[in-house]
Amino acid sequence: MGLTISRNRIPRRSIIRFISLIIIIIVIFQTYVSHLQSQFAFKAWGSRPATHNPKAKYNATNNDEWTQLPPTHDLERFCSSYPKRPVKKHHILISNKAKEDGPLKIFYWKQDYKVDWQKESETMCPVPLELQAFFDHYRQTKIKDPSVFWKTGYAPCFFWKTWDNQIEDRPGSCASREYGQLDFIFSTNYTDFVNADIIYTDYAFTMGIDKAPYFDQMLLPPRLAHQSWALTFYDESIGYYPHVAMPAFLNQFDLTMGSPPQLMDVPNPTYPITEKKALELANIEPTHPFDKTPEHYIAFMVTNCDAKNDRMGLIDKLVKTAGAHSYGFCSHNKEIPEELQGRDVGSWQYKKHKILASYPFGLAAENSNCLGYITEKIYDVYASGSIPVYMGAPDIADFVPEGSYIDVRNFKTYDDLIHYIKTVDREPFYRWKDIVKKDPTKFCKKCLYTGPPAWCTIMDNVHFV
Ligand SMILES: *[C@@H]1O[C@H](CO)[C@@H](O)[C@H](O)[C@H]1NC(C)=O
Ligand SMILES: *[C@@H]1O[C@H](CO)[C@@H](O)[C@H](O)[C@H]1NC(C)=O
Repeated sequence: MGLTISRNRIPRRSIIRFISLIIIIIVIFQTYVSHLQSQFAFKAWGSRPATHNPKAKYNATNNDEWTQLPPTHDLERFCSSYPKRPVKKHHILISNKAKEDGPLKIFYWKQDYKVDWQKESETMCPVPLELQAFFDHYRQTKIKDPSVFWKTGYAPCFFWKTWDNQIEDRPGSCASREYGQLDFIFSTNYTDFVNADIIYTDYAFTMGIDKAPYFDQMLLPPRLAHQSWALTFYDESIGYYPHVAMPAFLNQFDLTMGSPPQLMDVPNPTYPITEKKALELANIEPTHPFDKTPEHYIAFMVTNCDAKNDRMGLIDKLVKTAGAHSYGFCSHNKEIPEELQGRDVGSWQYKKHKILASYPFGLAAENSNCLGYITEKIYDVYASGSIPVYMGAPDIADFVPEGSYIDVRNFKTYDDLIHYIKTVDREPFYRWKDIVKKDPTKFCKKCLYTGPPAWCTIMDNVHFV
């Protein structure tokens, strides 16, 4: 019996050897996996590889139908119904480890295209391996000049400079909702890219393509597993940059800020109005007497004669059949008065206000009819004291006082619109002023905004995990 037992018994030394071997295997395996992760790190839901495999090809297309929408011939539909955004609780997830490392690092991902690359390529800075594929791709697709040569591992120091030509990191501190004051460093140091916790970009324009897949994924940085992404987009129309509305693009970001408000985690208007400004606008008196028939009803100053909506058709009609005055390049038929000519007279906006003030109506026509895209144009007409005739965002009503403007969409034909302008009682269009004078917040539902700068919004949404 004793013999049987001893035969079945595994000697203690073997057990220790066996366990040691298992531990060694586990350690080797883990090291290998973490090596793989750092090499090809990507977030599961972003589901795309890091770009430092120079052979990798990136198609922005996935199974998402929005990446396939034709932006030009179906623009109206595209711009008037954006896909729903998932509701997120915490946006900028940062590993607890980073918290102990000192201030968080926000890296500013910037691109610019009006650059003398020959000259800028004379001063080169070192880039990490992770960014090599990006710089190769940028040079090939954006610069396209074979005489511009960047040695592997280097890129023009131009990239390192911020909007005010600064190259050094700058420290900052902002309040966060969960952790009180959080310190951060704002950096454009590409050499140190991999050490950033947050990648921030406010320049999605260079990625736009006018046919499917609509954006060039490789102009975005590689997605490293420990980094969160934040985007600001507000001053251009989805009509011109449809990719920004596409989940395939937008959902890559952990936090989005700006306009169109329908699409952004933290919405803010394209042209934010302060309460002070609202009060100012309310105090501008109508310049054209209501009981006097004007010689010319409407004027405008439009300089960009290319639009995604029928702005040019409307301008043409107003000039040809309604005696409208065009001071801008498009259908130009009227000179700026002499007393307003010259640079020292005032800004372009000041001149615009002065000019439109002589007409009961001013045309405010956006370059596209996209939800949430409301620029300065309609507010310029209020500032002149005339009544805006508006062509643009279907949700304009949320951004201006009720009953204060004429929406071109409400008319079957431009002739109907012109007839209306010539016959309508103008006085009721100014009734909002009394309401806003008492309470400036009544100016609009969604145009008021005095939020913090983007980096503070980012800090506010940090959550350590
Ligand atoms: C990208 O798209 C092109 C054209 O649709 C296709 O031929 C190619 O296989 C795609 N590449 C990848 C990596 O999916
Ligand atoms: C950028 O980062 C690298 C690596 O951390 C560092 O050596 C270099 O001094 C930094 N450059 C600037 C301008 O701060």
